[in-house]
Order: sequence, then structure tokens, then C-alpha cells
Amino acid sequence: MKKTAMFVLVLVFSLSLSLFLPTNTVISNENIIQVDSVDPIKIVAHRGASGYAPENTVAAFDKAIEMNADFIEVDVQRSKDGKLVIMHDPTVDRTTDGAGKVKDLTLKQLKRLDAGGWKGSQFKGEKIPTFEEIIKRYRKKTGILMDIKYPKRYPGIEKQIAEILKKHKLEQPKKGEIIIQSFNHKSMKKMKQLLPKVPIGVLITKKAHTKEKAIEEFASYADYYNPSYQILTKELVEKANAKGMKVFPWSVRSFDAIQFVLEMKTAAIITEYPEFVNLTKKVTISTVER
Ligand code: G3P
Repeated sequence: MKKTAMFVLVLVFSLSLSLFLPTNTVISNENIIQVDSVDPIKIVAHRGASGYAPENTVAAFDKAIEMNADFIEVDVQRSKDGKLVIMHDPTVDRTTDGAGKVKDLTLKQLKRLDAGGWKGSQFKGEKIPTFEEIIKRYRKKTGILMDIKYPKRYPGIEKQIAEILKKHKLEQPKKGEIIIQSFNHKSMKKMKQLLPKVPIGVLITKKAHTKEKAIEEFASYADYYNPSYQILTKELVEKANAKGMKVFPWSVRSFDAIQFVLEMKTAAIITEYPEFVNLTKKVTISTVER
């Protein structure tokens, strides 16, 4: 009887103690141990590993997988005949051998273009992928961070994306499977209404959007607060985290910039050079050890 009372007492004490401890703390038999439960920083390959291969093509996405990226970032637009395609700029001029607006070309016309030769002759023949091709090829291999580009040009694109994600059973994705983001915050609000279980991100460049009130408004529908790393501060990360949003800064292109972002303790880093992140971490560790 005495033993049972003692056991209950210890149990009640441990449970009440755990209520007041930070979430990254566990209790062992003898000690209280600090555990670093913070997830390792996720690596997002911006338009694929686009530092090495032509952006938004299979070559760049495959390279990202090879470099162990946790996500590929893909830009989504719509062809003249209503197919969702992967392309960053509003026109095909910079990244293909063609010319014209994406929205004025049919899928057949877009597919005829060479989307790789501009980056190097070894990439000649790369094609503009469709969004569904990307889902099929990569969903089991890595996360997909999709960026809806210029949604105002493509009325109804949010509904169309929702239908496609439902078709592929992605309307209730697993953690890290898919995130939708855009610079157009109205579009993201709409997306959240259409697909409440799909994580939503807001892309941020304006200082005004770093104010407490703005952050609170974003947090009412967004799960990710994704600023240009040039406006990133520790305080901003903490403010977004405090409202329940993770921070994925972009687009980080140098060792110094990666080092800076690592110090900001964000959940991820969006970069054209996915393998730089691990290299930078190694450099940092060996510098500290010396
Ligand atoms: O993921 C961030 C990114 O998509 C925003 O930058 O230059 O690709 O439009 P940008």
C-alpha cells in the first residue's frame, strides 16, 4: 500500500513538473536532460538545383534529388489551352529558345521548346514540364513547394490546382509532401479555403509585411512565412514562429548568405545550390571546434 502511494506521488510530481518544462526537455530516471528537438534545417532547391542545371526542368529537379534536397520548388503557370506548366517568367524568352507569353502558347507549342540549351549544350532538349508530370515523377521522392506565379493572369487557377491535388490524393498531404506559396496573398487565402489541410505559404518582400499586425493577419491562413533573406532578422523569425508559422527564406546563393540564414534558425533555406547548405554546416562546425 505504501509502495503504491509512493508511486502515485512520484507520477503526479513528474506529470506536473513536465507541464512547466519547455517542450524540448525530457525527464529520465535520474536527470532532466535537455534535448535538441529542433528539426534539422530543410533544404529547398529553388527551381530545382538551378545553380547547376536549367531551372524548372527535370534536369534541375533530378539534380536536387541527387543533392538530397527535402523539397523542390516549382513555379506554376497555365498554358493557352488550360494546362498547368512549370515556368518562372511570364514569358518563355529567357529560359527557352522560343518567344512569347506562357499564357498565349498552347501546351503543344510549349512542349516544342528547348528549355535547357540556354544553360549549356549538355542540357539541350530539356522540356518544360507540366505540373502533373512533376507530381507523378517526384511526389514519392521529395517534397514539392509549389509557387503560383501571377495568379491574376490565370483566373480560376486556385480551383484548378485544388482539383488536380484532389485527383492525386494530395488534398490531405502528409507532413512535408506539398506546400503552396505565392507572392499573391489573396490567392493564398483562396487556396486555404479550397484546401484547408494543405499548408500555405506567403512570400514576403515588403518591410510593411514584417509588422506585428501584418504577421498576425498572415497567420490567420498561412502556415509558412517566406521572406526574401535580405529582410530576414532573428526577431522576424521569432515573431512568425510565435504566431505558429515556419520560415523558409529565399533565395540564398552564397556561402556567406547560407551561413547567415543558418544563424537565423529558420525551418528551411531555399537555394539554387542545395549541397552548399551541408558544406556550410561542416565549415561552421570545424571552425567552432578549432
Ligand atoms: O521560393 C521563393 C521564390 O519562388 C521567390 O522568388 O525569384 O523565384 O520568384 P522567385
